[in-house]
Formats: sequence, C-alpha cells, structure tokens
Amino acid sequence: MISKIQSRIEEYIKEIKTANNHNELNSIKINTLGKNGIIKNLLKDVLDREYDDDVKKNAFDYINKVKQQITQMILKKKTEIDDFIQNSKINLEYIDVTLPVKNNNIGTRHILSSMVEKIRKYFIFRGFDVVDGPEIDREFYNFDALNIKKTHPARQSCDTFYIHDDWLLRTQTSTMQIRELSKKTLPVKMVSIGRVFRCDSVDSTHSPIFTQMECLVAGRDPICIGNLRHELINFLSFIFDNKNIDIRFRTSYFPFVEPGMEVDCLYNGSWLEIGGAGIVHPNVFSNCGIDGKVYGFAFGLGIERIVMIKNNINDIRFLYDTDVRILRGLSL
Ligand code: PHE
Repeated sequence: MISKIQSRIEEYIKEIKTANNHNELNSIKINTLGKNGIIKNLLKDVLDREYDDDVKKNAFDYINKVKQQITQMILKKKTEIDDFIQNSKINLEYIDVTLPVKNNNIGTRHILSSMVEKIRKYFIFRGFDVVDGPEIDREFYNFDALNIKKTHPARQSCDTFYIHDDWLLRTQTSTMQIRELSKKTLPVKMVSIGRVFRCDSVDSTHSPIFTQMECLVAGRDPICIGNLRHELINFLSFIFDNKNIDIRFRTSYFPFVEPGMEVDCLYNGSWLEIGGAGIVHPNVFSNCGIDGKVYGFAFGLGIERIVMIKNNINDIRFLYDTDVRILRGLSL
C-alpha cells in the first residue's frame, strides 16, 4: 500500500521543487496538506480499511513523516520565492551613482553656505583663527562682558529671544570676541561666522534668524582705526571683486567699541550700509581678565546683506525661499 502512494508523493515533492511563484505553491499546499488533500485522504483511507494494527501504525507513521517533510519543503520554498521577489526588486531599483548625470538639474550648495565658505577660506589664508561658538548662550557673553548695561534696550525681551534665566539665543556673533579674549592668549586674530537671532518680524530687510560674521584683532602692539580700515578694504575688495573699493565710516554707538562706527561701502555708485565696527572698548578687555595696555579692533557684517548687494536683490526672503529658479540665479 505504501509503495502505491509513494509515487504520488514523489510527484508532489517534484512539483514543490519546481514551483515558481506563490500561486503555484499555494495550489500544491491545498492538494497536499489541505482539507481535501492527499494527506487527509490517505489517513482516512487507512482508518477505513481493515488492516492489522501494526500495519495501520506503520502507515500512520509514514504518512505523518511525509506530512512533516512536505510542510517543511513548502515553507522553505516560500522563503526562496520571497527572497527571489525581493532581490529582483532590488536589482530593478539599483541606481548606478557613477553614471553621468543626464541634465544639469543637479543640486548645489546654498548661496549663503557658499558665501560663508568663501569668507572662511579668505581669513584662514590670512592667518586668522576661524572659530565657531554656541547659538544658545548666556547673558554674560551676549551682553554683560560686551559692556552692554542691564538697562540697554537691546536686552529687553522684545528684542532678544530668552530661553530661561540668563540663557538666550545670541543676538550677535560678538559673543565670540569674549570667548576668544577670555583665553587670554594675545595676540588674537579671529573670525567667527554663524547664525544670530532677534525678535524681528519678517519683511524685505529683516529676518528673525540671519548670519553674521565677526572679526576681532587684538594684542599688545598698538592698533588704530587705520588698521581696521585697511582690513575692511582688503576684505571687501575680495568679496566684491573690486580692487578699488571705497568705504566710509559714520560715527555710531556700540557699547563694546569706542569709537564705534557704521561702515558704508561704495558699490555701483552708491553708498551701502554693511555693518558695524570700532576700536575695542577697554572694559571688554578687563571683563575678559586682560590687564595692561592692550589694543584691538572689531567689525561685524551681515552675510545676507553681502549676498543681496552682490546679486542686486532687495528682499532677504529670496534667500530663505526654496524656489530654485531664484536660488540658481544667485552668484558668489
Ligand atoms: N555686533 C554688532 C551688531 O550686531 C556689530 C558690531 C560688531 C559692531 C563689532 C562693532 C564691532 O550690530
């Protein structure tokens, strides 16, 4: 009797091995392990017939073994088919990143990042330390040490984003003057570029987040406004690709410089305001623990402003928009 069913079982095993997809495998499963499948029918057959107990037991053992074998084979085949489908998908979706690009629709760095990088490189080449500092800072670095009195209007919460206690989002990169001077290793030649935050509403010239660069030169050797002017003219000539750039100073007030001034730059025939500058106030040095005769100049410029002037755009929002048609048109 066993030999009679053996050949049918073998047929099914062959079918399982050659099944190509889940449908084929499923119908084999129904035909073998299903309610009306060969295994169930064999068991019924054995039960119904008048065999000796011994023969019956042998037959049951055999059928159960076959059942287990078929179950395992179907399971194994199922994972094989799954793997095959998965691998075909992966092969189909494979992207060869070494192939040449079909069109010039590729991404680039944002103009602001490129400008920051350009300025960084310039100052590194000129022997400055280019440093980064925290955007979340304390009143000490943003105000106190910079000689900005507790009553100064800029400290009010309508101008400054306070976080809690004396923690705030820095309103200027001048914080980095304090961080560098506090190391007390003179001379200092540093540039720091980064984001600053102010409670301004957005309009064509204001944004609550913008990018500033800070430059500080300080040491025991005398430094005068001429040195500041020279550094600014060199830097702005580089940025505006113009060897004969002209700048002018207008007196202004920043508590951490004395005298303090605003810097205008002659560009395409008009004077444009580009930032603040001055000779470092003695209180700033003493607040950083530096005593004795010490000299320094500092200036701070807005990076967005530089990009806007260079590209003749009058709305800062263009720089933060994601419209690539505009962004692509901007140049360094
Ligand atoms: N920190 C000043 C500002 O944000 C700019 C400045 C920097 C002025 C350095 C003087 C010296 O307006």
